[in-house]
Amino acid sequence: MQITPTNMNDYLNYKFTDSVSSVSTFDELPLWSASFGLFLLKYLELKSGRTLLDIGSGAGFPLLELAGRLGPSTKCYGIDTWINANDRARQKANNYGLNNVEIIDGSAEKLPFDNTSIDLIVSNLGINNFSNPDTVFRECLRVLKPGGKLAITTNLNGHWREFYRVYEETLAQISRPDLALKLKVHEEHRGSVGSLSAMFIANGFTIARHFTDSFSMRFLDGTAFLNHYFVKLGWLESWKEMIPAELQVSFFDKLEQNLNDFALADNGLSLTVPMAYIEGQKTVA
Ligand SMILES: C[S@@+](CC[C@H](N)C(=O)[O-])C[C@H]1O[C@@H](n2cnc3c(N)ncnc32)[C@H](O)[C@@H]1O
Repeated sequence: MQITPTNMNDYLNYKFTDSVSSVSTFDELPLWSASFGLFLLKYLELKSGRTLLDIGSGAGFPLLELAGRLGPSTKCYGIDTWINANDRARQKANNYGLNNVEIIDGSAEKLPFDNTSIDLIVSNLGINNFSNPDTVFRECLRVLKPGGKLAITTNLNGHWREFYRVYEETLAQISRPDLALKLKVHEEHRGSVGSLSAMFIANGFTIARHFTDSFSMRFLDGTAFLNHYFVKLGWLESWKEMIPAELQVSFFDKLEQNLNDFALADNGLSLTVPMAYIEGQKTVA
């Protein structure tokens, strides 16, 4: 792929068009993505004249925000396997008047870039979603220039621990504590700073910096939580999969009730989300 520079004063030609299409892309991103993206934006080094790649850029975040914050001296690429999300991201880039952005339909497992052509790669909440994260890490190492960086943000093991303890208690109530092993695997899938750093190192990176933080997501109760659109979209399926089909209705009835009892005793359902920013570097040989 040919990396082309952006025209620096294109902003003089920008005109906001008041149309359904324009207004529809002034929407906000999910608060879930935003929490991690703000963490990324807090620590990421902003330097001029570089080439940036966002892997797993979804509907355009944080790609488009970075393209705006870095300005036209930075060429920004996004890549995602999710075609409809890429179309949405292109529509946003167009409506925002961003000329330094290109979005690629494709996989981070096979990046369409030459060796040593990219300065900085970011990924907000990508790592947990890649089927072959080691392949992605190796591709990132290949396309990064010597000294280039890969900065990721992700949720860590311990995420929503209050919810998962109630889930575990509910498994015991339906006399299926044997399913606790599935739950353990599901929870630990997220990894720790240690296990994620080890993955960077195993694939040829050194760790430049890492930061951790956490935030709380508050819900009125279990009923609100289980009905929240983003919970249904992002997690519900994986929680259902851990329970045999014939037990799902009774299990989720009990789970909802237990979460509601927990919320009543605890002044609402407050769930902890630990997060990490990890920056790996391709060290100069
Ligand atoms: C949790 S979403 C994060 C999206 C966005 N970065 C955000 O912060 O909202 C993970 C994204 O990774 C994408 N993804 C999964 N596997 C991928 C791959 N092999 N290559 C590129 N993107 C991938 C998904 O399609 C999805 O858009």
